[in-house]
Amino acid sequence: MRVPRPAVRDATGKVAGMTDTLVAVERRDDGVALVTLQNGKVNSLSTTVLSQLQDIAEDLTATPPGAVVVTGSERFFAAGADITEFGGAEKAPVIGGHFLGALEALAGIPRVTIAAVSGYALGGGCELSMACDFRLASDTATFGQPEILLGIIPGGGGTQRLTRLVGPSKAKELVLTGRQIGAEEALAIGLVDEVVSGRPVLDRALELAAEYAKGPLVAQALTKQAIDGGLDLSLADALRLEHELFVRVFESEDAEIGVSSFKENGPGKATFTGR
Ligand code: COA
Repeated sequence: MRVPRPAVRDATGKVAGMTDTLVAVERRDDGVALVTLQNGKVNSLSTTVLSQLQDIAEDLTATPPGAVVVTGSERFFAAGADITEFGGAEKAPVIGGHFLGALEALAGIPRVTIAAVSGYALGGGCELSMACDFRLASDTATFGQPEILLGIIPGGGGTQRLTRLVGPSKAKELVLTGRQIGAEEALAIGLVDEVVSGRPVLDRALELAAEYAKGPLVAQALTKQAIDGGLDLSLADALRLEHELFVRVFESEDAEIGVSSFKENGPGKATFTGR
C-alpha cells in the first residue's frame, strides 16, 4: 500500500530542501543496497529525510536489489523526529503521514532489510530500525522511545512494531517511561538480533546482507509476505495465505534449482539465480 505523503512547503510554496541528499543510496556490486542517513549531526528524521527515504524505498521495491542495509553515523543512527518541525495538532498529521509513508515503504521492500545501528536510535530512529527485518547493534548502541518525555506518544510504529517484537508489557514499560536501553538489554528483550563488538557493525551487516543477496530471492520475498502478512490475520486465514505463497514459490527458477540440487548433491549446495 502506498501511503500518500503531505508536502511540507516553505513560504514561497516550494518543497523545502528537497535537492539536498540527506539519505544516500549505493547499489553495490555484491547486490546489497546501502542506505545511509546523513542529516547533519544527530540524523534527525525531518519530513524531507522521510520523503527521500520513501522515494528510495519505493525505488528499491520497483527494482529490488539482493538485500538492503540501512545505517546512520557512528554516534547517531537517528535521534528521532525533527523536533524543530513540531508545532501543534495542525502539523501532526503531516509529520505522522511522512513517518507512515516512509516506514511502510521500507517495510514493504521485498528483500531482506537490515538496520546497522551504531549510537543513538531514539524515537523515530528506533522505529526506523524496527521497520527493517533485522537489527544489528554495535555494543555502544542505545535504543529508546523517549516521546513520553515530550508529553506525546510514538507516531512511527513505536507502539505497534515494538509491541510485536518485545510483547505488550515490555513495550508499555519502555514507551511509558522513555527509558533508554543499551545493546545488550535490547538483545535480551528481542529488540536487537545481534550485538557486534570489536568491528564496525556496518561491516557485519554488509557481510550478512551479501549472504542473503546470494539466496533464493523469490522465496525470501514470499517468506516476508507470509510472516508479516500473517501477523494481522487469524491463524486459519494466515495458514491459507501461507498455502497460497507455498504454491506460488514453486513457480520460481530457484525452487527448481534448489530441489534438483538437493536430489543430486544433498542439502545446502544449491547456487541460486535470484529468480
Ligand atoms: N530533533 C531536533 N534536534 C535534535 C534532536 C531531534 N530529535 N535531537 C537532538 N537535537 C539537537 C539538540 O537540540 C542539539 O541542538 P543544539 O546543538 O542546537 O543545541 C543538538 O541536536 C545536539 O543535541 P545534544 O542534546 O546537545 O546532544 P547529546 O549528545 O548530549 O544528546 C541525544 C543526544 C540524542 C541523546 C539528545 O539530544 C536527545 O535526547 N534528543 C531527543 C531525542 C528524542 O526525544 N527523540 C524523539 C523525538 S519524538
